[in-house]
Amino acid sequence: MSALIIDTDPGLDDAHALAMALTPSSKRPSVPVSAICTVAGNVGIDAVTGNARWLLGAFGDEASRPPVYRGAAGPLAGAVADAADVHGTDGLGDIPRWPVADIAEETLPAALALTDTARRRPGEITLVTLGPLTNIALALRLEPRLPRLLRRVVVMGGAVRGHGNLTLNAEFNIGADPVAADLVFANFPDVTLVTWEATINHPFAREEFDAFFRGESEAAVSLRRLVDNRYLTDPGYGRRSAYFRADPLAMAVALDPSVVTRVMHHRVYVGYGPGTLGHGLTAVDWRDTRSDRPAATIVEELDHDRLLELLRV
Ligand code: RIB
Ligand code: CA
Repeated sequence: MSALIIDTDPGLDDAHALAMALTPSSKRPSVPVSAICTVAGNVGIDAVTGNARWLLGAFGDEASRPPVYRGAAGPLAGAVADAADVHGTDGLGDIPRWPVADIAEETLPAALALTDTARRRPGEITLVTLGPLTNIALALRLEPRLPRLLRRVVVMGGAVRGHGNLTLNAEFNIGADPVAADLVFANFPDVTLVTWEATINHPFAREEFDAFFRGESEAAVSLRRLVDNRYLTDPGYGRRSAYFRADPLAMAVALDPSVVTRVMHHRVYVGYGPGTLGHGLTAVDWRDTRSDRPAATIVEELDHDRLLELLRV
């Protein structure tokens, strides 16, 4: 029986991805979630961990709520980046919080929760990463067998054609911790990479975007309130011609691999050079000239109509 571990930095789009994993739907495969691991990314570790707990309290089913493990407070090396300009100071759009069930966090650090679960359930865990890869790199250093113990790794991250969002050519999750990301690409075989370019190549119209949250589930009601707050506090947000959902696309790929319609397989390398344009760059061995690390499966195209079903909560 397989299960998911979700490593996340909630984050408005992380919240949507978590809702997909935690809310049953006849249109979406249901995979048990074994653990939620938090990592500093969109906002600081206290805020993202508090957000994960609050979201689980808002729409996690009491009987199947996964434990929350606090992870790394910053990258392995370099300065701490954040995306508060996109996700708000609190990471969820600075919305006044309504009361939800109080979900505790575990005492075990996220990296140890990852290694412990993988050791206890070899070949069963699909790891979905929605933030910087710091926890995964730490877990690898603690358990070098981790790449062989995990069933699959799906990463939201990277800009393989240089279309970045953190810098001109670095995507946030990779650029926030390039050292960790390069360790992951160098050691984990066949990482499924859902890039920023794949994300922006699959925009949603406003009507399609709003339809994701029109259901009756607690997740739909909660996410609708988060989105409405964005429309209210950022009038330009409602006038966009396209809505991008990076983490939900990665979660869709993790839950239903058949949504992927085109991939390519190449080795991926990550640049490190604080203050330079190479920092966080995901460089691809396009001509397959190297053999010093496993290749990744880079997602190029997804089925749009199937995404409309998978992202509805
Ligand atoms: O580049 C997009 C990624 O950065 C998403 O995971 C988003 O939540 C932010 O973490
Ligand atoms: Ca994220």
